[in-house]
Amino acid sequence: MEVKDKKIKDIKISASIIAGDFYNIEKLIKETEEASVDYLHLDVMDGNFVPNITFGVSIAKKIKSITNLPLDIHLMVNNPENYIKEVIEYVDILNFHIEAVRFPFRFIENIKEMIFTKGLKVKVGIAINPITEINFLKYLRGYVDSILIMTVDPGFFGQKFIENMLIKISLVREIVRDCDDVFISVDGGINDTNIEKVIKAGANYIVLSSFLYKGNIIKNVEKIKSVIQKVI
Ligand code: DX5
Ligand code: ZN
Repeated sequence: MEVKDKKIKDIKISASIIAGDFYNIEKLIKETEEASVDYLHLDVMDGNFVPNITFGVSIAKKIKSITNLPLDIHLMVNNPENYIKEVIEYVDILNFHIEAVRFPFRFIENIKEMIFTKGLKVKVGIAINPITEINFLKYLRGYVDSILIMTVDPGFFGQKFIENMLIKISLVREIVRDCDDVFISVDGGINDTNIEKVIKAGANYIVLSSFLYKGNIIKNVEKIKSVIQKVI
């Protein structure tokens, strides 16, 4: 779908809560809900796949119990297979890193088998680090519902957007050009000054953290939506 044919509802906003006030998680979630974002983005980090630890899947489960927002979980972990069985029970999108899985076809089949057997509805997504090539994606057409393009090296919020990822976004868009229901997500360093470029390159699912949680989240989401409105 060309950018010009899109509507504001076609561009999803996902709030990554790690830049928020974690010590008042219920207040943080409530404010985020009031800001009318589309998803909550949960950055699970194990201190191995990335040099940082945020929270585990049990905290993610607790967050599910205090919000009605759909959850997109970003597993920045080695051995993601250890977490799948639990997280599919309560997330709406599950993103694992392609760099952490040796046999992705078998892995995705297993996840989809679990989802089907439990009668769940979970989108399966692949997260891709900035330096990781994307040629493999053409073989995964039809296997994944979301492609999470990291626009920073993962592990921390507040980092600078890597401009060269614009090329990658447009290449990914080309690979999944006729799969309109696939989320092309960008994650890392996104703000009101670069969101126009990422949407024009083909992104339709925007993860933001520090831009949203610096100051008033309601105003920041309104700002982002007004920029999106001008682009589409
Ligand atoms: C980085 C995380 C991102 C990050 C986004 O490893 O996956 O979700 O929290 O934060 P900002 O928008 O501040 O770059
Ligand atoms: Zn993330």
